[in-house]
Amino acid sequence: SGPKPLSGLKAIVTSGPTHEPIDPVRYIANRSSGKQGHAIAAALARLGAEVTLVSGPVTIPDPHGVRVLHVERAEEMRDAVIANLPADIAVMVAAVADWRVASGSDQKIKKQPGEAPPPLLLTENPDILKTVGHHAQRPRLVVGFAAETQDVDANGRAKLERKGADLIVANDVSPETGIMGGDRNRVRLITKSGVEDWPDLSKDEVADRLAAWIATHVQGAPA
Ligand code: C5P
Repeated sequence: SGPKPLSGLKAIVTSGPTHEPIDPVRYIANRSSGKQGHAIAAALARLGAEVTLVSGPVTIPDPHGVRVLHVERAEEMRDAVIANLPADIAVMVAAVADWRVASGSDQKIKKQPGEAPPPLLLTENPDILKTVGHHAQRPRLVVGFAAETQDVDANGRAKLERKGADLIVANDVSPETGIMGGDRNRVRLITKSGVEDWPDLSKDEVADRLAAWIATHVQGAPA
């Protein structure tokens, strides 16, 4: 086999959900299987990148050829990502919980007969993509995902700007699409220069195409 297009480049990928504890036995979380993020990590590794995958709690196996760091909470995911800078490429695929529980308890909260349920106080989690997109050691290529149920292009373009990303991979995750938890994905690539619509593909095919897209575009990106 000849030289690989991403040889010598370092990539950080996030994948899966985060779990935000309420107490030692309960948590709140986003829905995410980790399938797309894990597939992207593997695809980048196949093109020669040195890949660190920071994964939230998932039930799928670690991908081959990738260093995997397992985390639970958004703050742990952020710390693991930042600790692995500098990198050339960042692909933030994780479905990070927007909020964590501010009223979390070290002990299991007991159900008290006859008492009202305890209130959950939430506080904002760090935005990992936005942190990386504006970091002093910003990777040359920063890619984010956008799961939307409406106005996919407009929301994706706004996200590109706000998060400091070079590319937003947007998909419509309306329940009728079956994308959530499924093996297929239909995405639109949103950059400053426009929108590219990809056909319905398997998540592995999306990963391979995205890795190839990254290989072409990381070359021209300013160091
Ligand atoms: O704002 P929204 O959550 O829709 O943005 C999605 C993108 O931002 C994804 O790439 C996701 O991984 C990333 N993100 C993040 N940290 C958060 C929220 C989202 O890295 N706290």
